[in-house]
Amino acid sequence: MIKQAIIPLAGLGTRLLPLTSVFAKELLPINGKPGIEYILDECIEAGIKEVIFIISKKKEMIKNYFYNDIFYKKIIKKKKDQRIIKEYKKILKYKKMIKFVYQNKPLGTGDAVLKTKKFIKDKFFLMLLPDDLIIKKNCSKSMISIHKRYKSSVIASMNVNRKTVSRWGIFKLNKKLDKRNYLINDVIEKPSVIVAPSNKAVIGRYILPKKIFSKLSKQKPGKGGEIHITDAIQSLIYENHKFIAHTFSGKYLDCGSMNGYIKSTLEIAKS
Ligand code: UTP
Repeated sequence: MIKQAIIPLAGLGTRLLPLTSVFAKELLPINGKPGIEYILDECIEAGIKEVIFIISKKKEMIKNYFYNDIFYKKIIKKKKDQRIIKEYKKILKYKKMIKFVYQNKPLGTGDAVLKTKKFIKDKFFLMLLPDDLIIKKNCSKSMISIHKRYKSSVIASMNVNRKTVSRWGIFKLNKKLDKRNYLINDVIEKPSVIVAPSNKAVIGRYILPKKIFSKLSKQKPGKGGEIHITDAIQSLIYENHKFIAHTFSGKYLDCGSMNGYIKSTLEIAKS
């Protein structure tokens, strides 16, 4: 069973400047609710019991959001407002399941994942990238059932317009398992249209094996000088570890870019 999830939150969020110059992007409201709460709700509904947040000193405000008990207690005592009481109870529920680890230099997603090494208990765990919201169908829940069925690692996938492949990580497909699931041979970071092996892109939900930590601890920086999780995934695939690309059926919202962030709010408001 997959009971633990990790969420890397230590990036700089430069694409959302100036909103992120003093504010953590994951706390920015999307239709009146911080983005990170959508991600936590997805985890809870998928049966996750513990979530590990990878934050940095610069993003301590994320921890403070869940640890502001004295303030809440004072306000609730004074106002007895039912809405605030309900929201506080929800925060307490989240707080109980979150652990924090630190990555003070943003050396890449792979380096962020490595920080969680000593906390992962089971053979597999879930990773969610908080910029990628998936609404209407719980993607993590579907991936967990695929993992159970095929006993393998799983990565969320979405068909993208061929012209845009150079913006994404793209899967090289192996065998089709069923309508929504393919075994993969490789993941290629931002290929040109000519060399792209498919139009199936990587989206930020991964079921990863604990084995990935030994790869990450030896891994050299890749593109842009960062330690990428995809490079460690490639090494595992080359050693015959099974990875499945799962084409999810929910709706993808990119909250990491300014345009996408604005659109997400509108999209959630009308859904
Ligand atoms: P991105 O590179 O897409 O986002 O990382 P970013 O760095 O936060 O924002 P931009 O690109 O400057 O606008 C994907 C996810 O991985 C986390 C980020 O917080 C984001 O959730 N991340 C990235 C880390 O935790 N550590 C890193 O070293 C890099």
